[in-house]
Amino acid sequence: MESAATTTGQARPARAGRGKPFEIRKLSELMAAEITGIDLAQPFDDVTRDAIMDALVAHHVICFRDQALTKEQQYDFTARFGELEGHVVRTWEGGKSPLVHTVSNLDKDGRPTDSPYTQGNFFWHTDKSYHEVPSLATLLHAIEIPPSGGSTQFANMYAGYEALPQHMKDRIANLHAEHSWEVSRTNTFSRTATEEEKRERPPVTHPIVRTHPVTGRKLLYIGHHTSHIVELPYGEGRALLYQLLDYATQPHRVYTHQWRKGDLVMWDNRCLVHRGMRDFDMTKHRRLLHRTVLKGSVPY
Ligand code: SIN
Repeated sequence: MESAATTTGQARPARAGRGKPFEIRKLSELMAAEITGIDLAQPFDDVTRDAIMDALVAHHVICFRDQALTKEQQYDFTARFGELEGHVVRTWEGGKSPLVHTVSNLDKDGRPTDSPYTQGNFFWHTDKSYHEVPSLATLLHAIEIPPSGGSTQFANMYAGYEALPQHMKDRIANLHAEHSWEVSRTNTFSRTATEEEKRERPPVTHPIVRTHPVTGRKLLYIGHHTSHIVELPYGEGRALLYQLLDYATQPHRVYTHQWRKGDLVMWDNRCLVHRGMRDFDMTKHRRLLHRTVLKGSVPY
């Protein structure tokens, strides 16, 4: 059967799940596709699961429209693809976020605020790159969205790498960046990491140029969780990281997802950076999504 990964832009049936096909349609040339005709709350077979994973690898961002998953159902759906990842980030109350947690602009009393505890999400990053084994994919399910805005942006890091001049590719070929929860807090003007968080998430290093484990394509593996480049003087390395990130996130390499209530968006953290947008009145309107994260593999 033809793989969903070969979509040409026309809506057409992909693979069947329990005899029920889903439709896939590209949302932009660079990345992102929407999937309709499947209810993720219902059980589906392994053929459908594999077709979903094919679509993720091919399009990097896939959006299932018109879903209404409970947290338990989102957990079950995510677990079809692997192990769920825990979080170091703390809620307003100081507790650790559960495996299915909430991303919102609400304060601890449930009121909209422009200073939510997830401030770091507004800066380009790839989820959990400060882990030895970072994340494969993240899933966000839109429960409440503002009347306009509240979008999420994704930048294609394959494209960012491939467009680099050859001399820059040569320069960064064997460099490694330190990724740090602690430095990420200050990079994103969030707050100071606690001693407990620092113990729990000591810095790790990953290659700046990563090879995607499925496609074998090279890409830039950087973002606001990076601190510096191990092989270069601190300031020089930081400047180079920001230069590369600015280059990779130029508007023509970016897809902006305008949320609809019921969207469940799944993205491939192995080849994208993303950020939430402050493009709505955060003190007035509510934005609330449920989030799960899938564990990946050690970057190489
Ligand atoms: C995230 O960074 O995982 C969430 C992004 C968003 O809130 O749009």
